Amino acid sequence: MGTKNRWYENAVFYAIDVEVFADGNGDGVGDFQGLTERLDYLAGLGIDSIWLLPFYPSPNRDNGYDVTDYYGVDKRHGTLGDFVEFLREADRRGIEVIVDLVVNHTSDQHPWFQEARRDPGSPYRDYYIWTDDPPDQPDPQRGAVFPGEEDTIWSYDEVAEKHYYHRFYHFQPDLNTANPAVREEIRKIMGFWLALGVSGFRVDAATLLIDNKGGLERTKLDDPHGVLRDMRKFVERRGDDAILLGEADDAPDKLAAYFGDGDELNVLLNFLLDAYLVLALAEERAAPLETVLDMLPEVPVGGQWANFLRNYDELNVGRLARAQQQAVFAEFAPEKSMQIYGRGIRRRLAPMLDGDRDRLELAYSLLFSLPGTPLLVYGDEIGMGDDLSLPGRTAVRVPMQWSSEKNGGFSTADPDELVRSVVSGDDYGYESVNVADQRGDPDSLLHWFSRLIHVRRECPEIGSGDCEVLETTDDAVFAHRMRGGTGPRSETGTLVAVHNLGDEETTVTLDLEGSPTRLFDGSELQEVEDGWRFDLGEYGYCWVRLN
Ligand code: NOJ
Repeated sequence: MGTKNRWYENAVFYAIDVEVFADGNGDGVGDFQGLTERLDYLAGLGIDSIWLLPFYPSPNRDNGYDVTDYYGVDKRHGTLGDFVEFLREADRRGIEVIVDLVVNHTSDQHPWFQEARRDPGSPYRDYYIWTDDPPDQPDPQRGAVFPGEEDTIWSYDEVAEKHYYHRFYHFQPDLNTANPAVREEIRKIMGFWLALGVSGFRVDAATLLIDNKGGLERTKLDDPHGVLRDMRKFVERRGDDAILLGEADDAPDKLAAYFGDGDELNVLLNFLLDAYLVLALAEERAAPLETVLDMLPEVPVGGQWANFLRNYDELNVGRLARAQQQAVFAEFAPEKSMQIYGRGIRRRLAPMLDGDRDRLELAYSLLFSLPGTPLLVYGDEIGMGDDLSLPGRTAVRVPMQWSSEKNGGFSTADPDELVRSVVSGDDYGYESVNVADQRGDPDSLLHWFSRLIHVRRECPEIGSGDCEVLETTDDAVFAHRMRGGTGPRSETGTLVAVHNLGDEETTVTLDLEGSPTRLFDGSELQEVEDGWRFDLGEYGYCWVRLN
């Protein structure tokens, strides 16, 4: 790594879907012009890394994860020129931009697939995975990713007169990663965006990318993780401190392999932590957090977790035991319409927590204090809601609520021309939940978030220090200490965070080995005979640095 040296260890990531963030030209669809105009807002909020969801030309049947051209910008969002302007303006504000890299599959409309299906002699034929004879019963571990929406992984193509393999929807044929020409294409795509100045990639479906696709001899990789090592090597060669942030939602004992020896993915989206964190919130007990911190593998130097509560898909609790999943559903998604795929929740966090401000603060304070780098999704900072009348995962992908003006300030187009309706009325409508109003209110969630983000960026102990769970006398209280760590911005030391997951006031006493200075909110602190006493309110929390 070069001069900026592991910037992602002490960053705050913010995920944006350009389509629904801000419409700059008034046609009802979010675009780069609109996003660029909002960069000052983001810089003010304090985030320093944007993850851009796919914005490439696409028939848009899976929210842009069905790409037809890896080298462009979908015209609904502007031009490549607009993208470069955006990147430059982000850079001027010290904001890193990483882009989604969707190379596990293409759209079926991609010219590669179109040629592959038409011409058996085309070099593109072997970019995909074909068979005359698909197995009747795929290995249950290798079934369709979105059960109920797509139940097969082999679809018949009338033109090729063969079946092709796809782990996602039938319109997303999987690329054959075992073909060296495909891996060369992936390098070229990365090279293109790195040359424009992005700070890395969010590697979509990293687990499936290196899988033995279709279970065929022909698609078996000799060294599956070699694919990720090659990508990392290339990114290090071409990018200035650029990273790979991977979507690797794999079994706990397989996670370490994605970091390799510090030579594969730099950052892993922490799906495991998410499931247990939500369980801890649902049960109002600290124990699931201890459990998951024990389950997570050590990360190598330069490796990092990206911790999140909600992302842009379903909140997947599939890795919890059945009874634990039921406890989470009962608390946060009691109605069937709030659940999805039998394993997930399709709500945003604020409605999951009934809009309870104390509990929301507790949840995000906890998230930001856990070892790793926190990730927010646009709109979290104002407590946006969802729209359960929308199908599937789209429920959480509602337009950003900027103000109480028409369309929540997202667009000046006629409401019926909007790419997606803005949430209106009720508790989470743009009339009552929006950036402009919260900006004017020093007690708003937005102001609270801004403080949280700024404080977190002063705490390299969380991003790269050692973490130790401290014993407390209350099951509802999670206390942990972080020491050391390296950060370009601030002094490091020892930090202690105490979180009361319960809805009753409580008191815990900790032996702190130093006198605490309060860094972030909440409790009364008092020196007592056997240490320091924290008086925590319901869902109370407090971060201190030891002197
Ligand atoms: C993972 C993405 O997060 C999800 O939204 C998408 O549908 C699949 N990958 C397929 O690309």
